[in-house]
Amino acid sequence: MIKFDLITIFPDSLQAYLDSSILKRAQEKGLVEIKIHNLRDWSDSRHKMVDDTPYGGGPGMVFMIQPIFNALKDLKKDNSKVFLTSPKGEKLTQNKLKELSLDTNTHYIILCGHYEGFDQRVHDHLVDYEFSIGDYVLSGGELPALALVDGVVRLIPGVLGNEHSLENESFTKGILDYPQYTKPSQFNNWKVPDVLLSGNHKEILDWRKKKSKEDTDSMRPDMSK
Ligand SMILES: C[S@@+](CC[C@H](N)C(=O)[O-])C[C@H]1O[C@@H](n2cnc3c(N)ncnc32)[C@H](O)[C@@H]1O
Repeated sequence: MIKFDLITIFPDSLQAYLDSSILKRAQEKGLVEIKIHNLRDWSDSRHKMVDDTPYGGGPGMVFMIQPIFNALKDLKKDNSKVFLTSPKGEKLTQNKLKELSLDTNTHYIILCGHYEGFDQRVHDHLVDYEFSIGDYVLSGGELPALALVDGVVRLIPGVLGNEHSLENESFTKGILDYPQYTKPSQFNNWKVPDVLLSGNHKEILDWRKKKSKEDTDSMRPDMSK
């Protein structure tokens, strides 16, 4: 079973998401184990400090290596991989999530930063992989950590009710998903395409393929072949 340990200074911000929807069900079914830890629990300082001012000056605070080193000493096992959230890391993709979901015996430890990020020695000596969720800067690593956990867990067999829903998803086959419609068939003057109401499965399949291609070409020309 894949296991995750998330290390943060804002445990509450992660808990609500992990206790909802698909992630909640996956944990209840025993398909994944996810634990949240407060980095402050590993601080040696009297006031449970985990950050300090940067050497060389400059604004903000930097996460110190000591609490992280101690946390990893406690949590790491033979099958652990230490991941660090960073805007400088490799950009997460659906292919990467798939690869991680196939490593079924892996224990992922994810470090969520804040403020100015981590002492560079954490990056250099304690981490296996740094990932980013996009070319923008957030306040903390909690959302990126949740993005990775969510994206991996929903790919674990048995987690989603309908496995087939994964097949046509955007990015799975290098193409975007086709447009979806539901009841009513007409709202104001906006109608569902006739073909979807026709009951002709071959025509519906062809229409969906065509729309996937059109949407990919217009919305993500970088993905079009
Ligand atoms: C304000 S950011 C630090 C930004 C850093 N000073 C920089 O400019 O590269 C604080 C933390 O948020 C997280 N973070 C922010 N943006 C992220 C992104 N796009 N992907 C992954 N993590 C991110 C990281 O954990 C980072 O240490």
